[in-house]
Amino acid sequence: MKRDLILILDFGGQYNRLIARRVREANVYCEVLPYSVSIERIKEKSPKGIIFTGGPASVLDENAPKCSKEVFEMGVPILGICYGMQLMSVMLGGDVSKASLREYGKVEISVNNNNIIFSGIENKTSCWMSHTFQVTRLPDGFYGISSSQNCPIAAMADDKRKFYAVQFHPEVAHTPKGNEILKNFLYKVCGLKGEWKMSSFVEEAINDLRKKVGNKKVLCALSGGVDSSVAATLLHKAVGDQLTCIFVDHGLLRKGEPDEVEEVFRKQFKVNLVRINAQDRFLNRLKGVTDPETKRKIIGEEFIRVFEEEAKKIGHVDFLVQGTIYPDVIESGAGDAAVIKSHHNVGGLPAHVDFEEIIEPLKDLFKDEVRQVGIELGLPESMIWRQPFPGPGLAIRIIGEVTKERLDILRETDFIFRDEIAKAGLMREINQYFTVLTNMRSVGVMGDERTYDYTLALRAVTTTDFMTADWARLPYDLLERVSNRIINEVGHINRIVYDITSKPPATIEWE
Ligand code: XMP
Repeated sequence: MKRDLILILDFGGQYNRLIARRVREANVYCEVLPYSVSIERIKEKSPKGIIFTGGPASVLDENAPKCSKEVFEMGVPILGICYGMQLMSVMLGGDVSKASLREYGKVEISVNNNNIIFSGIENKTSCWMSHTFQVTRLPDGFYGISSSQNCPIAAMADDKRKFYAVQFHPEVAHTPKGNEILKNFLYKVCGLKGEWKMSSFVEEAINDLRKKVGNKKVLCALSGGVDSSVAATLLHKAVGDQLTCIFVDHGLLRKGEPDEVEEVFRKQFKVNLVRINAQDRFLNRLKGVTDPETKRKIIGEEFIRVFEEEAKKIGHVDFLVQGTIYPDVIESGAGDAAVIKSHHNVGGLPAHVDFEEIIEPLKDLFKDEVRQVGIELGLPESMIWRQPFPGPGLAIRIIGEVTKERLDILRETDFIFRDEIAKAGLMREINQYFTVLTNMRSVGVMGDERTYDYTLALRAVTTTDFMTADWARLPYDLLERVSNRIINEVGHINRIVYDITSKPPATIEWE
């Protein structure tokens, strides 16, 4: 698939992924590669423009990260951001020095809106700065196009070579006109039209998959999560019955989920689906196990074992589908080399499945793009907006031993919590929410009876990346409804607590 591409050279800054998001939001396809990538690789990509990101290093350091000098000789427009601007300056013969005052935060700037990069923007605007060094002498061919009180050269341009650079961060929300600046670069400087749309992606992907697979066989491990569901659906559209999906129900899923997977894939989409009801196998192996990591390991191993047994019955397949998405690829630090998402099949890749090649149809997409593809393909909203769910499932939300009885208690409480959050219309505002069954029992009173039952915890967090998270400020009346319903509708719980720790220091899951 050949599409117009913007290449983002990553110098390690904290907002780099945001730059990619913004470019994609402008309907331009982009890829992120490490700054050290070879010039041959860059040329192979034939980008329509290149963006240098920010980064934490000092450009004056001997070992400062630098890209190949030949990047400047490709005749391709370049936009340097923050460190990217300083790098451009130093590599093209300008000077960079330590600023007398470090600028951090929102800063007022004047811009020359006769320059293409600032066209349509008021000549006084604000932006987000975060720098200690700045350009103090322009390289040949450049002129200054913006300044702030403490930064005389806040942006520079060489219109002839189509090189532009800004000291501030146009990608963050604190730069109100940042999107316009990026769009000026993409549309006006690079001449792109903004035609990267999910509908065209779906069409192209289906055609490409059809060509690649030919009349061969494809196998997919379906988990019911967004990524594997979208990947499977895309392949099914492309090759129909040549695809077989294996869905292992390990008995650790949420209420109603296994049946929904079967309903959607087998009944609605007519996918060749093999559902394995392996609840007893998993429960047997988890008997007496209380250590979280041991639980994870057992579930991962057992999953692979069940999957392999079923795959053996199918025999040789040519392709195995993985629901890897772009953040998995970037996070690996491997540039665009596809990396297997170990989470995806719960415990990694099956070693004894007879396949020749892995297909990763979503590996260029961000999560919200995967969701859009799901919508295009007609997957139900409940699947598309499903909150992330750990591979080991409910087992790591039961402190202590996992038994059928405790799983049933947890499943019911989780269902009530989800139901009330949905009724309050908070499903998309809160990124992950669930209940945790502790192994602590305490004394309570119900009617005239003394009880001695479990304590249940409610967990709800807001987060963008799941690396850090804040506990959600749920309305008290919602918490009250959840608490009442759980006590009334589910047995063996006599105390409910709300987890008010952020991550760090806590993790999102309790195990
Ligand atoms: P923590 O608990 O580490 O979770 O703050 C961060 C995110 O990862 C999910 N998670 C897992 N996902 N296998 C998975 O597939 C696991 O073993 C696992 N442990 C945690 C968790 O639900 C949250 O979204």
